[in-house]
Amino acid sequence: MSDIDSNDVIEAALAARDRSVAPFSNFLVGAAVQTEAGRIFTGCNIESASYGLTVCAERVAIWKAVSEGERNFVRIVIAADTQSLTPPCGTCRQIIWEFAKDAEITLVNREFKREIVQIRELLPLAFDARFLKEATRSGT
Ligand code: THU
Repeated sequence: MSDIDSNDVIEAALAARDRSVAPFSNFLVGAAVQTEAGRIFTGCNIESASYGLTVCAERVAIWKAVSEGERNFVRIVIAADTQSLTPPCGTCRQIIWEFAKDAEITLVNREFKREIVQIRELLPLAFDARFLKEATRSGT
């Protein structure tokens, strides 16, 4: 196992927030995922002038890790600067469910106020590949 503790991942997410590219919303978000093997991958939100192309911090972090061959996550930290701690958006909940189901999710702000949540609470009755396999009739 690794020597990483939750504070390291929180610091990484807060530092990633500083790299946010959010000229349209000015809402800065950072994320960090910790892998079972003890690596940390970070992400920040990156906005596009074509607003819908914007990507959230959580997905940037998860995609970076997955594209480096990591599939097992133990922790994901989402850092913003709101008093009511910012939870992941609906799209990111789906991706967390599919790629980091067992990860403990820590929401944190710049005052280090924090809360731990689980994806099961955030996305009950989730859709995933199980349903694709269960389908009995073809679409034709
Ligand atoms: N944002 C994230 O990065 N993560 C979330 O879970 C919530 C929303 C970003 C997307 C956009 O750049 C800005 O926050 C405002 O929605």
